[in-house]
Amino acid sequence: MKDTYIFAIESSCDETSASIIKNGCEEIATVISTQISTHKEYGGVVPEIASRLHINNITLVLEETLEKANMKMEDIDAIAVTYGPGLIGSLLVGVEAAKALSMIYDKPLIPVHHIAGHIYANNLVKPLKFPLIALVVSGGHTELIYMKEHYSFERIGGTLDDAIGEAYDKVARVVGVPYPGGPLVDKLAHEGEDSYSLPMPLDDDSYNFSFSGIKSAVMNLVNNERQKGNEIVKENLCCSFQNRVVGIIVKKTMKALEDYGVNNLIIAGGVSANKGLRETFKVECEKNGIDLTIPEIKYCTDNAAMIGAAAYQLYLKGRFCDIDLNAKASDKLN
Ligand code: KG4
Ligand code: ZN
Repeated sequence: MKDTYIFAIESSCDETSASIIKNGCEEIATVISTQISTHKEYGGVVPEIASRLHINNITLVLEETLEKANMKMEDIDAIAVTYGPGLIGSLLVGVEAAKALSMIYDKPLIPVHHIAGHIYANNLVKPLKFPLIALVVSGGHTELIYMKEHYSFERIGGTLDDAIGEAYDKVARVVGVPYPGGPLVDKLAHEGEDSYSLPMPLDDDSYNFSFSGIKSAVMNLVNNERQKGNEIVKENLCCSFQNRVVGIIVKKTMKALEDYGVNNLIIAGGVSANKGLRETFKVECEKNGIDLTIPEIKYCTDNAAMIGAAAYQLYLKGRFCDIDLNAKASDKLN
């Protein structure tokens, strides 16, 4: 069979990224232009600034990707783009760029759901094996998904309030580390001890999560200690927080694997870069004979390579869209 090259674009939040992926599993070239240093000043992503920076960056990122791959648009079989969910102004930049490329070069256009992208980042590690459970942990999502075959997503649980990444970023702010706080909280957690008493988040029989309670508990604890004139030991607070949230995520994911009789686990999304989470899952999966796949750190956070990997499955199914494709701030994964 002829090789398929997909040119993918991702711009749903604060990364402008493009990638060329061969046959859904091989990265030819990826460029990621991050806006973190700009948003850091504001303690979080400012949507208006994010869209403007995407506009400034997109053409360069597209050109650089083709150059890096040493390819021309004529070598490309299809254009893929994240259409949602995400920040609407950011998404629109990628969507309009993809539509322009598709029209000018007469290539089919493939709309990709951002979460499908995160999931398919694992196909760049090794081919997905089914049935599987996918755990998606990011700044906007915490979901447990059952997949019986390619591009079939059954959501079996997820967060009832905050996403796990949101909770990390909030805790980071409270302990005074800059945006995006997740990686630094993770680092501090490894330097501390689990010495603070924090509640276990939604420890029930469901596959759902709730992180707003532990987030508030951290904020209250810090306020109370400061009022008493006590300094918080950041490392210990991060360690206590991380142990609770990773603990419940691992517990519920392992339960889902057992209940569904599934031996394959894939983890995706920005928080899958978390060292504590990676280490705990590795140990638990080894103990329970589960085949675990987690993307390389660079494919955990937002990137277009994962969008190209997901798009290949849609390409095989012929799920293309018209030039009237619109961005969607929220949309169900299907
Ligand atoms: O997937 P992603 O890049 O964007 C979304 O689709 O949301 O995820 C970003 C999130 C941020 O909340 C960031 O703090 C978190 O992933 N994150 C981490 C780590 N690295 C990134 N959280 C915990 N530990 C990490 N090492
Ligand atoms: Zn993401």
